[in-house]
Amino acid sequence: MATKKIRVGIIGCGAIAERLHIPDYAACDQAELVAFCDNDKKRAKAIAEKFAPDAAVYNDYKALLKNEDVDAVSVCMPNKFHGICSIDAAKAGKHVLVEKPMAMSLAEAKKMVAAAKKAKVHLLVNQSMRNYPAHKKAREIIASGFLGKVLHVSGMCGHEGPEVWAPNAKWFFKKKDARFGAMADLGVHKADAIRYITGKEISEIRAFSGTLEKKGTDLEDNFVSSFTFKDGGMGSLAASWTVKGGMTNYTIVHCEKGTLEVLLHPDKPLVARLHDPLSEIVFTLPEAPILYKDSWGLDIGGAFIRAILGEEEPFCSGEEGLKSLAVILAAEKAADTGKSVKVTV
Ligand SMILES: NC(=O)c1ccc[n+]([C@@H]2O[C@H](COP(=O)([O-])OP(=O)(O)OC[C@H]3O[C@@H](n4cnc5c(N)ncnc54)[C@H](O)[C@@H]3O)[C@@H](O)[C@H]2O)c1
Repeated sequence: MATKKIRVGIIGCGAIAERLHIPDYAACDQAELVAFCDNDKKRAKAIAEKFAPDAAVYNDYKALLKNEDVDAVSVCMPNKFHGICSIDAAKAGKHVLVEKPMAMSLAEAKKMVAAAKKAKVHLLVNQSMRNYPAHKKAREIIASGFLGKVLHVSGMCGHEGPEVWAPNAKWFFKKKDARFGAMADLGVHKADAIRYITGKEISEIRAFSGTLEKKGTDLEDNFVSSFTFKDGGMGSLAASWTVKGGMTNYTIVHCEKGTLEVLLHPDKPLVARLHDPLSEIVFTLPEAPILYKDSWGLDIGGAFIRAILGEEEPFCSGEEGLKSLAVILAAEKAADTGKSVKVTV
């Protein structure tokens, strides 16, 4: 029997589209790449030629959304377009996988969730780190109760800055296009990872943010915060665009019976340190499969397609993405006001 294929359109053909979304769909038997859009049409055309030469090419996403051959879209544009494009796509009856941070505000994120619900389409947010093998296994270990209650969590995500990731993407440094700097570019990943790994919700947060090195930007390149969880326990969450010597992306979960170190040591991605008897367990993780040459192997596109087909639960629904964004918005307010801010959704 022929497999049902979900026909996908890519909106915004930049770095993340080329390195994650498109290779994931190209590797997925149940997906077919049928349309590409970028306001730089040459870019859209070049990407189409590389991955799906017969696909339709657009420079206006609204024209792509009118294409009845498109069932689902990946929204991979600069942050300021995530909300409006996802809402338009849902209204056009397309399933949506939107990049993080899902929106510029909580109100916008809520409108996206409502639009998807009304149109009865899926809205997923690409909190891609949920698909890291170390994060999945860490979540399993914490949920099993093996280490007891979570008491204290430290999470940090940093790299040298978006200019290294996407050298031509000047929009990352402009508040009107990106709204946040390191705080949501990387901090929303870490807020989501902390929520995902611990299964706990952040209640209240205090924060500092500032620009230490980046020139010509009205956005923060560093951010630190401390928080409490709703059901007890506390932690810290930080993000930086000025980390040298490679990406840092750790989460340390201190529990009653020991500590789980997630992505702290490059050679040992997941380690549990036990209190009694004093010992260490180094977990072996499955290698991320190389699904398509040059892909990250996270299978985000495949997971979106399988959620649409009802074959698996969405890895990060709009409601889930909204909760992680709410943490960052509270942190931003805390940093701006110097006050402690409750996380509300
Ligand atoms: N989930 C992750 O791990 C991850 C990693 C990197 C980036 N991202 C997110 O992905 C999004 C895109 O980031 P990027 O690094 O690919 O940036 P990028 O600048 O490389 O790509 C954005 C693309 O959108 C196009 N574009 C801009 N305005 C448009 C419009 N009006 N219509 C159509 N196309 C338009 C640009 O020409 C560009 O090709 C950002 O929101 C970023 O935060 C997520």
